[in-house]
Amino acid sequence: LKCSKVAMIGIGPFACAAIHLVVQNIEADDQFDPCLKVWVQDPLDEFEGRSLIDIVNTEHHHPKYLPGVHLGDKVIASSDLEWVASDADVLIFCPPHQHMQSITRRLMGKVKREAVAISLVKGMRVGRDGPQLVSQMIRKNLGIDCSVLMGGNVASEIAKRELSEAVVGANSRETGQLFRKLFQTPYFNVDIVQDVAGAEMCGTLKNIVALAVGIVDGLGCGCNAKAVIMRQGLTEMRKLSKTLYPNVRNETFFESCGLGDMITTCLGGRHRATAEAWTRAWKSGAPKTWSQLEVELLSGQKLQGVGTSNEVQEVLRARGWEASYPLFTTVNRIIKNYIPPTSIFTFRDGVILPL
Ligand code: 13P
Repeated sequence: LKCSKVAMIGIGPFACAAIHLVVQNIEADDQFDPCLKVWVQDPLDEFEGRSLIDIVNTEHHHPKYLPGVHLGDKVIASSDLEWVASDADVLIFCPPHQHMQSITRRLMGKVKREAVAISLVKGMRVGRDGPQLVSQMIRKNLGIDCSVLMGGNVASEIAKRELSEAVVGANSRETGQLFRKLFQTPYFNVDIVQDVAGAEMCGTLKNIVALAVGIVDGLGCGCNAKAVIMRQGLTEMRKLSKTLYPNVRNETFFESCGLGDMITTCLGGRHRATAEAWTRAWKSGAPKTWSQLEVELLSGQKLQGVGTSNEVQEVLRARGWEASYPLFTTVNRIIKNYIPPTSIFTFRDGVILPL
Protein backbone atom coordinates (compact mmCIF):
# COMPACT_ATOMS: atom_id res chain seq x y z
CA LEU A 1 0.00 0.00 0.00
CA LYS A 2 1.38 3.37 -0.99
CA CYS A 3 0.50 6.52 0.96
CA SER A 4 -2.23 4.73 2.80
CA LYS A 5 -4.92 6.76 4.50
CA VAL A 6 -5.51 5.69 8.09
CA ALA A 7 -8.72 6.21 10.07
CA MET A 8 -9.49 5.65 13.75
CA ILE A 9 -12.99 4.67 14.83
CA GLY A 10 -13.37 5.72 18.48
CA ILE A 11 -11.81 8.23 20.83
CA GLY A 12 -11.83 6.65 24.31
CA PRO A 13 -8.69 6.54 26.50
CA PHE A 14 -7.06 3.66 24.64
CA ALA A 15 -8.00 5.09 21.25
CA CYS A 16 -6.25 8.34 22.30
CA ALA A 17 -3.14 6.39 23.36
CA ALA A 18 -3.19 4.52 20.04
CA ILE A 19 -3.58 7.80 18.10
CA HIS A 20 -0.55 9.11 19.99
CA LEU A 21 1.48 6.08 18.76
CA VAL A 22 0.13 6.01 15.21
CA VAL A 23 0.70 9.71 14.45
CA GLN A 24 4.40 9.34 15.27
CA ASN A 25 4.65 6.70 12.55
CA ILE A 26 2.39 8.15 9.86
CA GLU A 27 4.12 11.52 10.11
CA ALA A 28 7.55 9.88 9.69
CA ASP A 29 6.84 7.24 7.02
CA ASP A 30 5.74 8.29 3.55
CA GLN A 31 4.01 4.96 3.09
CA PHE A 32 1.23 6.67 5.05
CA ASP A 33 -0.82 9.83 4.59
CA PRO A 34 0.08 12.00 7.62
CA CYS A 35 -3.55 12.99 8.25
CA LEU A 36 -5.55 10.83 10.62
CA LYS A 37 -9.34 11.06 10.58
CA VAL A 38 -10.94 10.08 13.87
CA TRP A 39 -14.59 9.20 14.42
CA VAL A 40 -16.21 10.59 17.55
CA GLN A 41 -19.48 8.87 18.38
CA ASP A 42 -21.12 11.63 20.38
CA PRO A 43 -21.04 15.03 18.61
CA LEU A 44 -22.37 16.70 21.78
CA ASP A 45 -19.67 15.38 24.09
CA GLU A 46 -18.10 18.32 25.83
CA PHE A 47 -15.50 19.34 28.34
CA GLU A 48 -16.08 22.38 30.56
CA GLY A 49 -18.75 23.65 28.17
CA ARG A 50 -16.66 23.25 25.00
CA SER A 51 -17.17 20.69 22.23
CA LEU A 52 -14.61 17.89 22.46
CA ILE A 53 -14.47 17.68 18.66
CA ASP A 54 -13.47 21.37 18.55
CA ILE A 55 -10.85 20.89 21.25
CA VAL A 56 -9.28 17.91 19.42
CA ASN A 57 -9.31 19.80 16.10
CA THR A 58 -7.94 23.09 17.36
CA GLU A 59 -5.81 22.24 20.40
CA HIS A 60 -4.97 18.65 19.40
CA HIS A 61 -5.47 16.97 22.75
CA HIS A 62 -8.28 15.18 24.61
CA PRO A 63 -8.72 16.80 28.03
CA LYS A 64 -11.19 14.21 29.28
CA TYR A 65 -9.57 10.89 28.41
CA LEU A 66 -5.87 11.61 27.97
CA PRO A 67 -5.17 15.06 29.42
CA GLY A 68 -1.90 16.76 28.60
CA VAL A 69 -1.04 14.45 25.70
CA HIS A 70 -0.51 15.92 22.24
CA LEU A 71 -2.52 13.92 19.71
CA GLY A 72 -0.91 15.39 16.60
CA ASP A 73 -1.62 18.45 14.48
CA LYS A 74 -2.99 16.39 11.60
CA VAL A 75 -5.70 14.60 13.54
CA ILE A 76 -9.18 15.53 12.30
CA ALA A 77 -12.08 14.52 14.54
CA SER A 78 -15.59 14.20 13.14
CA SER A 79 -18.87 12.56 14.09
CA ASP A 80 -19.55 11.66 10.42
CA LEU A 81 -18.71 7.95 10.37
CA GLU A 82 -18.89 7.57 6.60
CA TRP A 83 -16.68 10.57 5.96
CA VAL A 84 -14.06 9.21 8.33
CA ALA A 85 -14.08 5.60 7.10
CA SER A 86 -14.99 5.55 3.43
CA ASP A 87 -11.66 6.64 1.90
CA ALA A 88 -9.43 4.85 4.43
CA ASP A 89 -7.00 2.13 3.37
CA VAL A 90 -6.37 1.16 6.99
CA LEU A 91 -9.20 1.17 9.54
CA ILE A 92 -8.44 1.02 13.25
CA PHE A 93 -11.44 0.11 15.42
CA CYS A 94 -11.41 1.11 19.08
CA PRO A 95 -14.93 1.95 20.32
CA PRO A 96 -16.60 0.15 23.27
CA HIS A 97 -17.34 -3.43 22.17
CA GLN A 98 -21.11 -3.12 22.63
CA HIS A 99 -21.24 -0.54 19.80
CA MET A 100 -19.36 -2.59 17.22
CA GLN A 101 -22.38 -4.33 15.73
CA SER A 102 -24.17 -1.07 14.94
CA ILE A 103 -20.98 0.62 13.72
CA THR A 104 -20.10 -2.19 11.31
CA ARG A 105 -23.70 -2.34 10.08
CA ARG A 106 -23.63 1.39 9.34
CA LEU A 107 -20.41 0.89 7.38
CA MET A 108 -21.60 -2.10 5.30
CA GLY A 109 -20.71 -1.51 1.66
CA LYS A 110 -19.18 1.90 2.49
CA VAL A 111 -15.51 1.06 3.04
CA LYS A 112 -12.91 0.41 0.35
CA ARG A 113 -12.95 -3.21 -0.76
CA GLU A 114 -9.18 -3.49 -0.52
CA ALA A 115 -8.97 -1.78 2.90
CA VAL A 116 -7.56 -3.68 5.88
CA ALA A 117 -8.77 -3.38 9.47
CA ILE A 118 -7.34 -3.85 12.92
CA SER A 119 -9.41 -4.14 16.08
CA LEU A 120 -8.18 -2.87 19.44
CA VAL A 121 -11.50 -3.87 21.02
CA LYS A 122 -11.49 -6.34 23.91
CA GLY A 123 -14.91 -7.97 23.88
CA MET A 124 -17.26 -10.30 22.04
CA ARG A 125 -20.87 -10.48 20.98
CA VAL A 126 -23.19 -13.40 21.48
CA GLY A 127 -25.74 -13.71 18.72
CA ARG A 128 -28.22 -16.41 17.75
CA ASP A 129 -25.40 -18.41 16.15
CA GLY A 130 -23.20 -18.23 19.26
CA PRO A 131 -20.17 -16.11 20.11
CA GLN A 132 -18.64 -13.75 17.60
CA LEU A 133 -15.32 -11.99 18.09
CA VAL A 134 -15.08 -8.37 17.00
CA SER A 135 -12.53 -9.29 14.30
CA GLN A 136 -14.99 -11.87 12.92
CA MET A 137 -17.78 -9.30 12.96
CA ILE A 138 -15.64 -6.82 10.99
CA ARG A 139 -14.67 -9.50 8.48
CA LYS A 140 -18.28 -10.61 8.05
CA ASN A 141 -20.01 -7.22 7.96
CA LEU A 142 -17.40 -5.28 6.01
CA GLY A 143 -15.89 -8.07 3.91
CA ILE A 144 -12.30 -7.00 4.69
CA ASP A 145 -9.38 -8.66 6.46
CA CYS A 146 -9.11 -7.86 10.15
CA SER A 147 -6.17 -8.18 12.55
CA VAL A 148 -6.07 -7.34 16.26
CA LEU A 149 -3.71 -5.41 18.55
CA MET A 150 -3.71 -6.78 22.09
CA GLY A 151 -1.37 -6.46 25.07
CA GLY A 152 -0.88 -5.21 28.60
CA ASN A 153 -1.51 -1.60 27.66
CA VAL A 154 -2.81 0.91 30.17
CA ALA A 155 -3.45 4.06 28.12
CA SER A 156 -2.00 6.62 30.53
CA GLU A 157 1.31 4.73 30.74
CA ILE A 158 1.66 4.57 26.95
CA ALA A 159 0.98 8.30 26.86
CA LYS A 160 3.88 8.81 29.30
CA ARG A 161 6.10 6.79 26.95
CA GLU A 162 6.72 4.08 29.52
CA LEU A 163 7.87 0.71 28.17
CA SER A 164 4.99 -1.41 26.91
CA GLU A 165 4.54 -4.32 24.53
CA ALA A 166 1.71 -5.69 22.46
CA VAL A 167 1.09 -8.24 19.76
CA VAL A 168 -0.53 -7.87 16.40
CA GLY A 169 -2.61 -10.97 15.75
CA ALA A 170 -2.69 -11.21 11.97
CA ASN A 171 -3.70 -13.76 9.37
CA SER A 172 -0.52 -13.17 7.38
CA ARG A 173 2.99 -12.06 8.25
CA GLU A 174 2.73 -9.27 5.64
CA THR A 175 -0.35 -7.72 7.25
CA GLY A 176 1.28 -8.13 10.65
CA GLN A 177 4.32 -6.15 9.39
CA LEU A 178 2.07 -3.34 8.13
CA PHE A 179 0.44 -2.95 11.53
CA ARG A 180 3.75 -3.26 13.35
CA LYS A 181 4.96 -0.28 11.27
CA LEU A 182 1.87 1.63 12.30
CA PHE A 183 2.06 1.06 16.06
CA GLN A 184 5.66 0.28 17.01
CA THR A 185 7.77 2.98 18.68
CA PRO A 186 11.02 2.74 20.68
CA TYR A 187 8.98 2.32 23.89
CA PHE A 188 6.08 0.31 22.46
CA ASN A 189 7.25 -3.07 21.17
CA VAL A 190 5.02 -4.95 18.78
CA ASP A 191 5.40 -8.67 18.04
CA ILE A 192 3.40 -10.56 15.46
CA VAL A 193 1.43 -13.71 16.18
CA GLN A 194 -0.51 -15.52 13.49
CA ASP A 195 -3.31 -16.35 15.90
CA VAL A 196 -5.99 -13.67 15.67
CA ALA A 197 -8.65 -15.53 17.67
CA GLY A 198 -6.20 -16.55 20.41
CA ALA A 199 -4.91 -13.00 20.92
CA GLU A 200 -8.42 -11.56 20.89
CA MET A 201 -9.85 -14.14 23.28
CA CYS A 202 -7.00 -13.38 25.71
CA GLY A 203 -7.71 -9.63 25.65
CA THR A 204 -11.43 -10.24 26.06
CA LEU A 205 -11.43 -12.86 28.83
CA LYS A 206 -8.76 -11.37 31.06
CA ASN A 207 -11.21 -8.60 32.00
CA ILE A 208 -13.28 -11.20 33.89
CA VAL A 209 -10.16 -12.32 35.76
CA ALA A 210 -9.36 -8.70 36.65
CA LEU A 211 -12.86 -8.28 38.11
CA ALA A 212 -12.19 -11.34 40.30
CA VAL A 213 -8.88 -9.89 41.48
CA GLY A 214 -10.61 -6.59 42.33
CA ILE A 215 -13.18 -8.51 44.38
CA VAL A 216 -10.38 -10.27 46.28
CA ASP A 217 -8.69 -6.91 46.88
CA GLY A 218 -11.97 -5.45 48.10
CA LEU A 219 -12.24 -8.26 50.60
CA GLY A 220 -8.76 -7.41 51.87
CA CYS A 221 -7.00 -10.63 50.81
CA GLY A 222 -3.30 -10.74 49.96
CA CYS A 223 -1.16 -11.99 47.10
CA ASN A 224 -1.52 -15.75 47.60
CA ALA A 225 -5.24 -15.47 47.05
CA LYS A 226 -4.80 -13.25 44.00
CA ALA A 227 -2.36 -15.77 42.52
CA VAL A 228 -5.05 -18.45 42.90
CA ILE A 229 -7.43 -16.30 40.87
CA MET A 230 -4.91 -15.40 38.17
CA ARG A 231 -3.73 -18.99 37.71
CA GLN A 232 -7.26 -20.34 37.49
CA GLY A 233 -8.23 -17.41 35.27
CA LEU A 234 -5.48 -18.16 32.77
CA THR A 235 -6.45 -21.84 32.78
CA GLU A 236 -10.10 -21.04 31.99
CA MET A 237 -9.07 -18.45 29.39
CA ARG A 238 -7.04 -21.04 27.54
CA LYS A 239 -9.63 -23.77 27.86
CA LEU A 240 -12.51 -21.67 26.53
CA SER A 241 -10.43 -20.17 23.71
CA LYS A 242 -9.25 -23.56 22.51
CA THR A 243 -12.67 -25.14 22.86
CA LEU A 244 -14.40 -22.42 20.84
CA TYR A 245 -11.54 -21.93 18.37
CA PRO A 246 -9.51 -25.17 18.05
CA ASN A 247 -6.69 -23.51 16.04
CA VAL A 248 -5.77 -21.22 18.96
CA ARG A 249 -2.15 -21.81 19.99
CA ASN A 250 -0.85 -22.50 23.49
CA GLU A 251 2.09 -20.09 23.01
CA THR A 252 -0.31 -17.17 22.55
CA PHE A 253 -1.19 -17.30 26.27
CA PHE A 254 2.44 -16.50 27.17
CA GLU A 255 2.61 -13.47 24.88
CA SER A 256 1.85 -9.90 25.93
CA CYS A 257 -1.78 -10.43 24.89
CA GLY A 258 -2.10 -13.31 27.39
CA LEU A 259 -0.02 -13.37 30.55
CA GLY A 260 1.14 -9.78 29.93
CA ASP A 261 -2.31 -8.26 29.63
CA MET A 262 -3.64 -10.33 32.50
CA ILE A 263 -0.89 -9.09 34.83
CA THR A 264 -1.27 -5.45 33.76
CA THR A 265 -5.04 -5.45 34.13
CA CYS A 266 -5.00 -7.36 37.43
CA LEU A 267 -2.41 -4.95 38.88
CA GLY A 268 -3.27 -1.59 37.43
CA GLY A 269 -6.44 -1.66 35.36
CA ARG A 270 -9.82 -0.02 35.78
CA HIS A 271 -11.54 -3.40 36.07
CA ARG A 272 -9.57 -4.28 39.17
CA ALA A 273 -10.04 -0.85 40.75
CA THR A 274 -13.78 -0.69 40.03
CA ALA A 275 -14.41 -4.24 41.30
CA GLU A 276 -12.47 -3.39 44.47
CA ALA A 277 -14.65 -0.28 45.02
CA TRP A 278 -17.80 -2.30 44.29
CA THR A 279 -16.81 -4.94 46.85
CA ARG A 280 -15.84 -2.35 49.48
CA ALA A 281 -19.20 -0.63 49.05
CA TRP A 282 -20.96 -3.99 49.49
CA LYS A 283 -18.84 -4.73 52.57
CA SER A 284 -19.64 -1.36 54.14
CA GLY A 285 -23.38 -2.10 53.91
CA ALA A 286 -24.00 0.63 51.30
CA PRO A 287 -23.79 -1.33 48.03
CA LYS A 288 -23.35 0.49 44.73
CA THR A 289 -24.31 -0.60 41.24
CA TRP A 290 -21.76 -1.04 38.48
CA SER A 291 -23.36 1.85 36.57
CA GLN A 292 -23.02 4.10 39.61
CA LEU A 293 -19.32 3.30 39.87
CA GLU A 294 -18.81 3.74 36.12
CA VAL A 295 -20.06 7.30 36.53
CA GLU A 296 -18.06 7.93 39.73
CA LEU A 297 -14.76 6.35 38.63
CA LEU A 298 -14.75 6.11 34.83
CA SER A 299 -16.42 9.32 33.59
CA GLY A 300 -19.40 7.14 32.62
CA GLN A 301 -17.46 4.73 30.36
CA LYS A 302 -18.77 1.18 30.48
CA LEU A 303 -16.59 -1.44 32.11
CA GLN A 304 -16.11 -3.88 29.24
CA GLY A 305 -15.61 -6.92 31.50
CA VAL A 306 -19.08 -6.74 33.08
CA GLY A 307 -20.68 -7.11 29.65
CA THR A 308 -18.12 -9.74 28.67
CA SER A 309 -18.83 -11.78 31.80
CA ASN A 310 -22.55 -11.81 30.90
CA GLU A 311 -21.82 -12.69 27.28
CA VAL A 312 -19.41 -15.50 28.19
CA GLN A 313 -21.92 -16.84 30.71
CA GLU A 314 -24.58 -16.97 28.00
CA VAL A 315 -22.25 -19.18 25.97
CA LEU A 316 -21.42 -21.41 28.95
CA ARG A 317 -25.06 -21.78 29.96
CA ALA A 318 -26.30 -22.50 26.43
CA ARG A 319 -23.73 -25.27 26.02
CA GLY A 320 -23.99 -26.76 29.51
CA TRP A 321 -20.37 -25.83 30.32
CA GLU A 322 -20.81 -23.76 33.50
CA ALA A 323 -19.36 -26.44 35.79
CA SER A 324 -16.20 -26.63 33.65
CA TYR A 325 -15.53 -22.89 34.11
CA PRO A 326 -15.98 -22.42 37.86
CA LEU A 327 -14.15 -19.10 38.17
CA PHE A 328 -15.94 -17.40 35.26
CA THR A 329 -19.26 -18.72 36.59
CA THR A 330 -18.60 -17.62 40.18
CA VAL A 331 -17.58 -14.11 39.07
CA ASN A 332 -20.74 -13.78 37.00
CA ARG A 333 -22.95 -14.82 39.91
CA ILE A 334 -21.18 -12.35 42.21
CA ILE A 335 -21.41 -9.36 39.88
CA LYS A 336 -25.13 -10.08 39.39
CA ASN A 337 -25.60 -10.19 43.19
CA TYR A 338 -26.78 -13.82 43.14
CA ILE A 339 -24.08 -14.74 45.68
CA PRO A 340 -21.96 -12.48 47.91
CA PRO A 341 -18.40 -11.42 47.02
CA THR A 342 -17.19 -13.53 49.96
CA SER A 343 -18.07 -16.59 47.84
CA ILE A 344 -15.27 -15.81 45.37
CA PHE A 345 -13.25 -18.90 46.35
CA THR A 346 -16.17 -21.32 46.28
CA PHE A 347 -15.08 -22.18 42.74
CA ARG A 348 -12.13 -23.97 44.29
CA ASP A 349 -13.01 -25.65 47.52
CA GLY A 350 -16.28 -24.31 48.81
CA VAL A 351 -14.64 -21.85 51.21
CA ILE A 352 -16.75 -18.76 51.88
CA LEU A 353 -14.58 -16.02 53.31
CA PRO A 354 -15.63 -14.58 56.68
CA LEU A 355 -16.26 -10.84 56.58
P1 13P B 1 -8.72 -1.82 32.18
O1 13P B 1 -9.88 -1.70 31.22
O2 13P B 1 -9.03 -2.70 33.36
O3 13P B 1 -8.13 -0.51 32.58
O4 13P B 1 -7.59 -2.63 31.42
C1 13P B 1 -7.00 -2.02 30.37
C2 13P B 1 -6.31 -3.03 29.59
O5 13P B 1 -6.92 -3.75 28.84
C3 13P B 1 -4.87 -3.10 29.76
O6 13P B 1 -4.31 -3.84 28.75
